[in-house]
Amino acid sequence: MEPMVTVILAAGRGTRMKSELVKVLHPVAGRPMLAYPVAAARAVGSRRIIVVAGYQKDKVEAALQGQQVDIALQEEQLGSGHAVLMAAPQLAGFAGDVLILCGDVPLVTTATLEAFLGAHRENKACMSVLTVDLDNPAGYGRILRTENQLRGIVEHRDATEEQRAVREINTGIYCCRAPFLFEALGKVKTNNDQGEYYLPDIVSIAAASGMKVQAVKTGDFSEVEGINDRAGLARAERAMQARIAGQHMANGVTLLDPQATYIEAGVRIGADTVVYPGTSLRGATEIGSGCTIDMHCMIQDSKIGNRVHVQPSCVIEKSSIADAATVGPFAHLRPEAVLEEGVHVGNFVEVKKSRIGRGSKANHLTYIGDATIGAGVNVGAGTITCNYDGKRKHPTVIGDNVFIGSNTALVAPVTICKNALIGAGSTITKNVPENALAVARGSQKNYENFMVPKIRRDTD
Ligand code: UD1
Ligand code: CA
Repeated sequence: MEPMVTVILAAGRGTRMKSELVKVLHPVAGRPMLAYPVAAARAVGSRRIIVVAGYQKDKVEAALQGQQVDIALQEEQLGSGHAVLMAAPQLAGFAGDVLILCGDVPLVTTATLEAFLGAHRENKACMSVLTVDLDNPAGYGRILRTENQLRGIVEHRDATEEQRAVREINTGIYCCRAPFLFEALGKVKTNNDQGEYYLPDIVSIAAASGMKVQAVKTGDFSEVEGINDRAGLARAERAMQARIAGQHMANGVTLLDPQATYIEAGVRIGADTVVYPGTSLRGATEIGSGCTIDMHCMIQDSKIGNRVHVQPSCVIEKSSIADAATVGPFAHLRPEAVLEEGVHVGNFVEVKKSRIGRGSKANHLTYIGDATIGAGVNVGAGTITCNYDGKRKHPTVIGDNVFIGSNTALVAPVTICKNALIGAGSTITKNVPENALAVARGSQKNYENFMVPKIRRDTD
């Protein structure tokens, strides 16, 4: 097969988004919308991908870092035709097909593009345009045909009443022979309502010179809808969520209410895991099989093993949880929390940059920061690692099988060696040796009969 390259138009600001951020970087399912056409272009075998950037070009370039994409600069946004022309120098001498996609059309699938490219190649077309029929085509470029032959495309604002009655619209996805494309773009004029160089104008140029141009119709508008405003962004998000949920369910994941669950594009979930409504799984999160992720949890960039139970209302960020651990309800795992197998972290427990060893428990009202905790440790309710002295963070080390009594303050840096026992209410400032009992609190004094006279007075 002849080589094909893809040009993706992404130079426009996207004024209707009313945003400081360029439109194509607004996220859909956690990824900039531009990432989707880039991935689709790669999936259909593009030899090269050129993104035409302009508005916030540096941000666009940074977002595509490491994706083997070339950037063409369109300094002034003089129209979609002008934008494609900016890629011409990088494609000098290229004689294959150029697939043209838009950075603001994230939902187009590989299957649709493959069918489109197949029709283009099979009919040996010079240019193909992907079209769709709409009940309400307002705002889109209309497909003009004579005796069913594609003749041209007219933008809504330039169209006559008769042309506006046409329901077949231009999706903004094209495939063209490169030499024809760049030659025709040189002939495009700006005699339209916006005074721009319109890419669709090359259709009538090709048709007039007797070249083979064709409209290839697709059935699903939701796939080819361009995002122009926040309402469109919300529709795309909803559609992408439905697609992602469908994939997880096909892989054996139970989503009790897929419409009330938010799962970003890069998330992986094993079979027989159950996800409850209101939960949000983000970034590069990986969840094993047989887990339960209960309601209203937010899990970001974290790795969770098999048979883990995350109870309701937990926030888990950049952390890792090994098999059969239990977390929550209302637990907060901050970056670099590492829970080994079978660990229990319970209600109102916060863990930051700490490792908790196999089978250890911190079940209630505790802060664990900058700590290394061994296996089989019991951290009593209300235990605090005092890791911060106002200037620096200090480590706490707790050996295997240590028992920390409730309401203990561990003033770091401090080490509690294995098998030690800390009496409840202690403020531990010195290291504790193996097998020792450490108690550091005011000793109790009982003042006998202290209350008796007072009680007598009150009842007089
Ligand atoms: C465009 C088509 C229209 C089609 C519709 C489908 C034109 C003139 N019209 O209209 O026929 O029905 O898409 O969604 O192309 N861009 C640049 N540089 C520019 C101008 C645009 O890179 O100077 C990029 C935009 O960032 C965007 C794409 O080209 O990704 C399309 O531009 P946009 O302004 O959204 O065109 P529409 O009005 O949607
Ligand atoms: Ca658009």
